[in-house]
Amino acid sequence: MPQKQIELQDRIIIALDVENPDLAKEMVKRCESHTRYFKVGLQLFMASYFEVVDWILDRGHKVMLDLKFFDIPETVKLAVEQVNNRGVSLATIHGNDAIIRAAMEARGDLQLLAVTVLTSFGEEDLRAMGMTQSVEDLVLFRARRALELGCDGVVSSGLEAERLRKDLGDKLLIVTPGIRPGANVSDGSDDQKRIVTAGRAIATGADHVVVGRPITKADDPIRVIEEMQKDIVRNGNEIN
Ligand code: C5P
Repeated sequence: MPQKQIELQDRIIIALDVENPDLAKEMVKRCESHTRYFKVGLQLFMASYFEVVDWILDRGHKVMLDLKFFDIPETVKLAVEQVNNRGVSLATIHGNDAIIRAAMEARGDLQLLAVTVLTSFGEEDLRAMGMTQSVEDLVLFRARRALELGCDGVVSSGLEAERLRKDLGDKLLIVTPGIRPGANVSDGSDDQKRIVTAGRAIATGADHVVVGRPITKADDPIRVIEEMQKDIVRNGNEIN
């Protein structure tokens, strides 16, 4: 399956999970020589709303807005309208068919990603919520529905990327969090359970990896980014 033509600088989306806009801006300035894609999630958005999003966009970078909208279809549609046409590249939603359809109606220039199963969930978490399918089957089922409903892509772990790519083809955008340098099995040291390395995620079919703590908590974030980019190139990124 040919990989999409995505430049190396756009492969890693840095999750700016920090408590205020000043820290986020500091992190962007530190990393922008190497990456130009940044994720604003719940913590930072609650601290600055669109101010930091607009600041990142004004510097010429891309933004993934990861607020994982989940509500009745009309509310999700109205929320997506608020994000639309502001220059944000990717936004995330959860949902069943009706929610995804409503979000798609409002999506305009945004690319919408449906979250399949959070990367912090393992099999036991699904059982605890009364679900009987395996994580992989549920991810595939939800991704297939999202694609059929016209969604641009999905968020899934690197453990499912290969099967998603094989079964659903090249059109679907696959964005993969749960990235840990040098590890394809969780050691239980944090909340992420379905983890892989950046290289493995891209090699098996992910278009982008989302990386937070391994970069934002590192003493030398640039060194971590460079190692991950080397790992991605070693594993078959086409453009570097
Ligand atoms: O620090 P870490 O690398 O685990 O950060 C992963 C980021 O990706 C977090 O911002 C988290 O909200 C996000 N994310 C995730 N799993 C998903 C969707 C988003 O970990 N399914």
